[in-house]
Amino acid sequence: MASLNWSTTLSAALLFLAKLASCTAPPIPPHIPIPPHIERDLGPLLSPGARIILPTSPDFPRVASRWTDVDRPAYGVVIAVETEDDVAQAVRYANVHNLPFLATSSGHSSWRRLAEFQGGMAIWLRNLTRFEIQPDGESVVLGGGVRSIDVITQLWPAGKQTTSGSCECVSIAGPALGGGHGMLQGQYGLLTDQILSARVVLASGEVVTVDADGEHADLFWALRGAGHNFGIVTEFRYRIYDVVKPDWSYEFFTFSGSVLEELYTLFNQLMERQPRETIVWSTWMRDPKVDPVNPTINIMIFHNGPTEELSEFTKPINALKPVGTRMGVTPYSKLLTVAGFDIGSSVCHKMPGTSLVPIDVPNYNVPAIQDWYDKFSEGLEAEPSLAASFTMLEGYSTQAVQAIPEESTAFPHRGQKLLLASLIINPIVGNDTLDMIAAKWAEDMRSASSGGTEKRHTYLNYATGTETAEELYGYEPWRLERLRGLKEKYDPKGKFSWYGNLVQKEPAREVDEL
Ligand SMILES: Cc1cc2nc3c(=O)[nH]c(=O)nc-3n(C[C@H](O)[C@H](O)[C@H](O)COP(=O)(O)OP(=O)(O)OC[C@H]3O[C@@H](n4cnc5c(N)ncnc54)[C@H](O)[C@@H]3O)c2cc1C
Ligand SMILES: *[C@@H]1O[C@H](CO)[C@@H](O)[C@H](O)[C@H]1NC(C)=O
Ligand SMILES: *[C@@H]1O[C@H](CO)[C@@H](O)[C@H](O)[C@H]1NC(C)=O
Repeated sequence: MASLNWSTTLSAALLFLAKLASCTAPPIPPHIPIPPHIERDLGPLLSPGARIILPTSPDFPRVASRWTDVDRPAYGVVIAVETEDDVAQAVRYANVHNLPFLATSSGHSSWRRLAEFQGGMAIWLRNLTRFEIQPDGESVVLGGGVRSIDVITQLWPAGKQTTSGSCECVSIAGPALGGGHGMLQGQYGLLTDQILSARVVLASGEVVTVDADGEHADLFWALRGAGHNFGIVTEFRYRIYDVVKPDWSYEFFTFSGSVLEELYTLFNQLMERQPRETIVWSTWMRDPKVDPVNPTINIMIFHNGPTEELSEFTKPINALKPVGTRMGVTPYSKLLTVAGFDIGSSVCHKMPGTSLVPIDVPNYNVPAIQDWYDKFSEGLEAEPSLAASFTMLEGYSTQAVQAIPEESTAFPHRGQKLLLASLIINPIVGNDTLDMIAAKWAEDMRSASSGGTEKRHTYLNYATGTETAEELYGYEPWRLERLRGLKEKYDPKGKFSWYGNLVQKEPAREVDEL
């Protein structure tokens, strides 16, 4: 019998590669001189627990660590903040000393243009862990360093839940500011749709409250989809919900690549009747136990409801004769463990040589998917060093996402129902030829999976940096006009210009008055 537990297979392979490459240290921070008296001058302005961590500190590798080291930013100093005022002080100090600064929460972004950030100040938000369920039970105040696991484990005992990302290790703020997809989005909307208000440190170091009715309602619109361009969120007030149905049933399938066409034709039909409680994931990877040559198709279907409902939905998948299946039931609090995305999983470990190349699409374009699969398979064959690479086809339900008017937030992809991505895993550091092969392969696969569409949509938080602003923020001219107008208003000097391509200009290097 073939491998039934593909997420374990994947985990083992990735963990091995992560270990192989984990001896690579973060790049040496170059160029921009850090003011020599930063500890003396900034230190007293910070709260007692905050720390100024220079590259010479034994703590530096930990706070500078990122999920991937491919085109990563380099930091000349890390300010590990403990309070909102610490963030404001750090920003003001950076402005006065002409230091570029960049917030970091859980460090998972694979936006490759972050590599342009060389040697400035990182503002490390991980310790902004405030978590207070509000007395009305309808929202929680959560800090800019809170992660998906914190939300799940702290809400569960209170009988509450909310949308968070599907990997336990990823922050709420990072995904939420660019949209944010997760298992509960079909029921409650995106991560960004949960934001009721935010405390934001602006480029000037001023701290403001941003919500739907206040003085900064314009920014509230922009924050929800293009937020990284406008400020540093120190905390959110975020919607939460009663857990009405605690249990999720799930069914996993393994197929050989030969059924690809039938399978994705079927998936298009299933999409028509995909309940808001149901998620359809597939991934391709080489699994020699199933097929020594062609990538295996692994499917995970999750359903917030009883097995009988799920079986009704998956009956036609079973009819295609999978080579392996597995099913079970779990409370939501353990769902991400079942999926293989928990804090101990390989995807939550550092994956130093990983890059991600994505596209969002409205349905399965079967010939395009077949073309993508063929290119994936050919690339694996041609370059054994990249053999641990895999793909993801994420089919979250979208009912609650689409119930929110598209113009009401800066997130422009509500019509796209699927997130497609190739994850290239290159464990060999420093071979430029291999890097080039990997990059070309990834773009060829993206091109194939797009089916040649003229107006590509790409989810900002998966994007690489080669996308156009329209692709990330929407094609309606009013969207970019509005965003750029707000950018001029809130960040005229372009301090927040390392992530997201909103304005194609060099980040400003002007010095503020003392
Ligand atoms: C293993 C893995 C799983 C993922 N799972 C999901 C998922 O389920 N759903 C999903 O939607 N996405 C997911 N993503 C993509 C994820 O949304 C992005 O990688 C996102 O950038 C991660 O946020 P971070 O805090 O880890 O990133 P960082 O690398 O720390 O930050 C990314 C960018 O966001 C900015 N930023 C971070 N925090 C703040 C803040 N508080 N205020 C202002 N700006 C801030 C940073 O300045 C930086 O420009 C996943 C990525 C990985 C690697
Ligand atoms: C973050 O918080 C933890 C727990 O309170 C503390 O041990 C640590 O020193 C803080 N700062 C950093 C940089 O880790
Ligand atoms: C770099 O990778 C390419 C492609 O796999 C390979 O042909 C070449 O031998 C590698 N170079 C080194 C120095 O290992």
